[in-house]
Amino acid sequence: MDTETAPGRFGRYGGRYVPETLVPAHLELEQAYAEARKDPAFDEQVSQVLREYVGRETPLTPARRLTELWGGAEVWLKREDLAHTGAHKINNTIGQVLLARRMGKKRIIAETGAGQHGVATATACALFGMPCEVFMGAVDVERQSLNVFRMKALGAKVTPVESGSRTLKDAMNEAMRTWVAQVEDTYYVIGSAAGPHPYPTIVRDFQSVIGREVRTQSLVAFGKLPDAIIACIGGGSNAIGILHPFIHDKDVRLVGVEAGGHGLSSGQHGASLTLGTEGVLHGSRSLVLQDENGQIIEAHSISAGLDYPGVGPELAHLAKTGRLEVRTATDDEALAAFYRVSRTEGILPALESSHAFARAEDLARELGKGKHLVINCSGRGDKDVATIAARGIPAAIGQEGA
Ligand SMILES: Cc1ncc(COP(=O)(O)O)c(C=O)c1O
Repeated sequence: MDTETAPGRFGRYGGRYVPETLVPAHLELEQAYAEARKDPAFDEQVSQVLREYVGRETPLTPARRLTELWGGAEVWLKREDLAHTGAHKINNTIGQVLLARRMGKKRIIAETGAGQHGVATATACALFGMPCEVFMGAVDVERQSLNVFRMKALGAKVTPVESGSRTLKDAMNEAMRTWVAQVEDTYYVIGSAAGPHPYPTIVRDFQSVIGREVRTQSLVAFGKLPDAIIACIGGGSNAIGILHPFIHDKDVRLVGVEAGGHGLSSGQHGASLTLGTEGVLHGSRSLVLQDENGQIIEAHSISAGLDYPGVGPELAHLAKTGRLEVRTATDDEALAAFYRVSRTEGILPALESSHAFARAEDLARELGKGKHLVINCSGRGDKDVATIAARGIPAAIGQEGA
């Protein structure tokens, strides 16, 4: 299925709004990707690395204790946290770095928020022997210090970005600026299904491996497609990756969860689909958090990966046309879900994924018994433990048992 109404356009959203100096680079990328996509050898090369190195397919596992605790639909987890480097981000970086090599590029740059995309890019660069520089907001450098160490250990240069809110959007601005200056030999690996055409398409295609696996796995595991699938939404790559292969299955409810931060009325959140308005951010028309003068409003989330004032254009289109149901979870709800999942299933989910878990509880109850709910566990929470521990560890959080 394609929701792409024209190359790079998803209904009213998408497109390519970039400085003139970057147009040739995007056209070159568009052409190279179109050729690679038609080449079965490229597809096999990507699949082979995902199989042999990343550890795909990732399991679809029953969450028996959560199912019992929530008392509604049967809950299943897509375990992207078990992919090498601990999150779905690696699916995309393997694909894009192989594309960069195919294009003859000599050097890789990337932006990162939570650091997972930076780690995944540094990993792919180490694997294929390419120099790598990762731009990261200074605030994120501080709150994701484990991932900063991992990137450096993998041989990447980490450049802290001091402008703006010193988070993901600023890191992306800086990566774009650097790319303009080095466009001849440098490939820019964008980490989410956002940014100018053709990135949202490229990232969506590489991440759709998640949803394709869920289709096959759910037929084997419970003999039908899931009744609902839920995923968190930052820029949107894990969500579009798991949801895209189900867009035409009208009986499968597709649900996305944005960062509610301190609450929607607080003004401090990352809920671009829920409260954003149409505008251009990072080269793409989508729903963005902006004031009446079109100035971007800084986002807030306890999780660095959801702390972004925009969202990928395809998800904006799916939300506006009603195919995607959009909900939000606050920082506190995500934290409670983090402990809930840790203590009932023995899995420390990423704070991003914890947002999906927070709303999955309501959804499981809403769906009721006999239905099947798949939650995308997009990553593991090791990178977040410093942030979480700083708030104090609750002794008990409910009836889940000791
Ligand atoms: C584990 C995890 N999940 C989700 C996200 C959010 O990004 P996206 O919406 O592109 O999946 C991130 C971003 O860093 C992440 O690390």
